[in-house]
Amino acid sequence: MQSNIFNERLQQAGTRVAHSVLSTRFQLDKNEQTDDVDFALKQQVVNCLLNANWNRYPTSDYRDIEAKIAGYCDLQPENIALSAGSASIITTLLDYFALNQKRIIITQPSYSLFDYHCQTYNINYESWLLTPELEYDYDNIPKLDANSVLIVTTPNNPVGNTFDAAKLEKLLTDNPQACIILDAVYCEFCQMDIAPLVRKYENLIVLRSFSKAFPIAGLRLGYLCAAPKTTAAVRKLLLQFSICHFSLIFAREMLFTPEFMETSRRQVREIIAERERMCRLLTDNYDRQTLKVFKSAGNFLLIRVFDDAAYKQLLADLEAAGIRVLNTSRFPLLYNTLRVSIGSRRENEAFLNCLHNSLAGVSADTALLADLLQECFLADKSRVGSGVGDMPRESWARARQERRA
Ligand SMILES: Cc1ncc(COP(=O)(O)O)c(C=O)c1O
Repeated sequence: MQSNIFNERLQQAGTRVAHSVLSTRFQLDKNEQTDDVDFALKQQVVNCLLNANWNRYPTSDYRDIEAKIAGYCDLQPENIALSAGSASIITTLLDYFALNQKRIIITQPSYSLFDYHCQTYNINYESWLLTPELEYDYDNIPKLDANSVLIVTTPNNPVGNTFDAAKLEKLLTDNPQACIILDAVYCEFCQMDIAPLVRKYENLIVLRSFSKAFPIAGLRLGYLCAAPKTTAAVRKLLLQFSICHFSLIFAREMLFTPEFMETSRRQVREIIAERERMCRLLTDNYDRQTLKVFKSAGNFLLIRVFDDAAYKQLLADLEAAGIRVLNTSRFPLLYNTLRVSIGSRRENEAFLNCLHNSLAGVSADTALLADLLQECFLADKSRVGSGVGDMPRESWARARQERRA
């Protein structure tokens, strides 16, 4: 094979393969639901699967499922296009718009797939940065024209911030020619439901998913809500037969049953309650110089630990405790941050305890540092620069060890 058939950009890109380490006790890194589908319900679906013709391609006419989704979103079936996860709609739209020389603008920091797909497929896009407080920068909304595609995520992953509803309507009204894509896969965790806006605005595409507010991320079911003209066009772009028998059977037999819907709604309410509890605890128990937790409308929290060493130590302690979170420091503006998914009460407590113990070690170090500085000062008042900063690394480590012992 020619050595340069894949360009430099692709060769330099990392891999998105998320490793599942078996020793990880708590998987709080992918914003999935902690509780699995009830075993008896799974069994019913498997029984139906046994009767499916595995030798045949799955159906590619999902109008019956789209009609049920429309009912769930308070829209018409023509407004819905089902897909194998919302991620597949994202990549399809990015490819289509790039090949058609559209000017693509994406808010950053945001869902990593946007940037990753653009990197690997050599798609150029402009970033619309959040403010330093990690809110949407309404004062600097990019100028849009008929060739522009703006992608906004709300609630935004990994930050948790949302796009103001009134400002969104103004944006849509002011730019009727531009295409505005709202990734709203976390919308069930907040008050704002933007899907019904597709009835009013032809330039709006809303992306939604069954991976976040429902315990079926493994089934890969997502959908798009838009004006019928847009939905019909996107259906032609989506790969045929990409939703397998298993997921379609689940969608037809189980997803919209009152029992499954009610269990999922209850689970969402519990996640929101846990998110707020954790956010309060973290805000109340740590001063603003140590830690900041960002207000979130998703099923996760973004946390910043200001001190570099403390941040690194925390990541190491979480890993040692078998708690997997997402290190978000490589995203623009997100230095020293991690994103933790809201799990069960037990998982959340494990995370909070680990964080508490890890940061307690840091405060103890800070206290020790103050003591040592005092000692150095008393021992030799006349010497300039005889502080702990001048201590050789080994002496500081030894002093710390002695103190802790
Ligand atoms: C903002 C955002 N959009 C889309 C997706 C992809 O979701 P799906 O499972 O529907 O492909 C994710 C997954 O984490 C996400 O965070």
